[in-house]
Amino acid sequence: MSMNRRRFLKAGGTLLAAGTLPISIVNASFGRSAHESFSFAYISDSHITHIKGNEFVRNWDRGLIRAISECNLLTPRPDFIIYGGDLAQLGTPEEIDHALDLMGGLRGKVHYVMGEHDYYLDLGEYWRKQLGPDHYSFDHKGVHFVVLNSILTYDTWTHGPWETPMARMKAMARLDNPNGSPFMVGAAQREWLRRDLDRVNRNTPVVVISHSPLQKIFKGWNFWTEDAEEIQALLKRFKTVTVLYGHVHQIQYNQIGNISFHAVMATAWPWPYPASYAQAESHLPKLTIEMNRADPFFERDATGWQMINLQTGNVDMHYLLADNRNRSVVFDRKLKRPLDARYRADADRIPPQVHF
Ligand SMILES: [Fe+2]
Ligand SMILES: [Fe+2]
Repeated sequence: MSMNRRRFLKAGGTLLAAGTLPISIVNASFGRSAHESFSFAYISDSHITHIKGNEFVRNWDRGLIRAISECNLLTPRPDFIIYGGDLAQLGTPEEIDHALDLMGGLRGKVHYVMGEHDYYLDLGEYWRKQLGPDHYSFDHKGVHFVVLNSILTYDTWTHGPWETPMARMKAMARLDNPNGSPFMVGAAQREWLRRDLDRVNRNTPVVVISHSPLQKIFKGWNFWTEDAEEIQALLKRFKTVTVLYGHVHQIQYNQIGNISFHAVMATAWPWPYPASYAQAESHLPKLTIEMNRADPFFERDATGWQMINLQTGNVDMHYLLADNRNRSVVFDRKLKRPLDARYRADADRIPPQVHF
């Protein structure tokens, strides 16, 4: 049995205890190095949506509630939880308050990431009032974590002639937002990041957490960060770097130089979402692109969670998809990049029938 498979099965045991839930469990293990092993959970993109009065879209509430309750049952306890952004749908105090009411049921320290849905109504003012700074770093058991606000954009767009702050919010809220603007980290935060990383040894594993991908995937859907290359350049001198991001509501992985990229799933809906979701049309972003993998009888189709092993700093990511077959994206040490364990061509190394 290969080491990869042993690790995978070990991970499976952890997951079975947790059930199928829309969060990520991250196990960090650094073998012979000085770093300690630990795990953390990851919940993202709940899009809590206010209807009126004390009414909120129940489906999105249920996704977050389920993640929180399953997270509370995890044994061993994750060291902390990352919330990956898009807590709210339109960034109103009602939505943020309701989401934080729900999050109040979560045991453990939570590190929050700013999403565009949290930001573009009041430029993050209420979110920051409740949750603190939108970019920061911390060290945990030998790993350096950096959280960035990657959903800023050009000042001319942000401060453009919007009729109302809500008009600006809605222009950014769509998947294929024709009136939107590309995301970016921006010069001020890049300078902060440069100084923050200055004090970190190149052998220290670095995990960067953002809402949008710090790579350019597809500009039309804003799966994009305008200054991605500049951020990647700041990370270049480190031996092992992992970028974890939300926003895309789907499985994605990539390797650019020394940096492994992994997306996390949403607790709300998958992008693009199934046509069947149109029955709740008034409470969803406008359905412009239909997904092609919908199970119309299952409201949580293609939402899910992942467990991540960080072996010597590299990520092995195990996705548990609600009502779908599980998938694993495993770092291939020979090829030096992540590969999908089920769909990879060279199935000898990790048999495709291995799942839990
Ligand atoms: Fe989102
Ligand atoms: Fe987003």
